[in-house]
Amino acid sequence: MKKIVLDVDTGVDDALGIMLAVKSGRFNLLGITTVNGNVSLSKATENTCKILDFLQVEQEIPVVRGASRPLLRHVYFEHRIHGEDGLGGALRDVQVRTEVKEGFGPDFMIEQVKKHPGEVTLIMTGPLTNLALAVSQYPELVDQVKEVIFMGGVVKEHGNVTPTAEYNMYVDPEAAKIVFHAGFPSLTLVGLDVTRKVLLNEAYIQELGDTPMAEYVKQSTSEYTQRYFQRNGVRACALHDPLAVAVAMSPELVTTRKLYVDIETRSELCDGQTVCDFQNRLMKEPNMQVCLDVDAPAFFEQFIRVLKA
Ligand code: BDR
Ligand code: CA
Repeated sequence: MKKIVLDVDTGVDDALGIMLAVKSGRFNLLGITTVNGNVSLSKATENTCKILDFLQVEQEIPVVRGASRPLLRHVYFEHRIHGEDGLGGALRDVQVRTEVKEGFGPDFMIEQVKKHPGEVTLIMTGPLTNLALAVSQYPELVDQVKEVIFMGGVVKEHGNVTPTAEYNMYVDPEAAKIVFHAGFPSLTLVGLDVTRKVLLNEAYIQELGDTPMAEYVKQSTSEYTQRYFQRNGVRACALHDPLAVAVAMSPELVTTRKLYVDIETRSELCDGQTVCDFQNRLMKEPNMQVCLDVDAPAFFEQFIRVLKA
């Protein structure tokens, strides 16, 4: 089983990513690290614990707090999309039972990678702050990790915060720059080009049946869907983060190409833009696998089956 550390800024879709990772039974989930992003670090951490409680997880999955702010920039929450609490109001009155483990997210990542050299997959579904801190502190991590899969960026389409930038990249572009140039042997970008193709709609939710899970998914995605509809004219919501988790589980779901990607950090208009050199004009070695297409029906077959189980 793949050994995983999941790094999240638990908003609506991160929560569904956690559910997919936990319920799939396909991972040895070494721990979950949290990061500031969609909501504050404390809310992201609380939401992560609430989701584990909701799933009634039997094995112990450590939850460790990470960075409470981006490397250099101010925080930029997404309450309009994820709601005040980050879960679209679902589980609002639930008391948290899962306890947070002492420690700091980046240290936890380093510790796990040292413990299992060459075996750990890092799945990142928030701003890349924790990983940038870990790499800066322990550069050997780059060669000791098995692979890094991150949800972030967009290479052909438009952004979702500014015309050119995707949210996770926009929030901490300096962290992303460190990660992009760290030299990871296997780094995969799961960006909006593919995550906008995995759209959860009412019909899929109905497939979950008449269950607490279906109720949760419906409630948590309601406002999120409304926002997506306002922007894109489609009554559905994109499962950005669950797709990154699914790629770790089933890489064949996506079509990828090895390319050189950099990120803009010094532009008034384009900060956070991921710039992909499709024609190798910069003559640089490719630094990541970029997801360019996805088999959406196959993703949903897996997603619904796992959540229903
Ligand atoms: C990403 O930004 C966040 O709002 C989502 O959780 C996802 O990780 C999509 O741009
Ligand atoms: Ca996220």
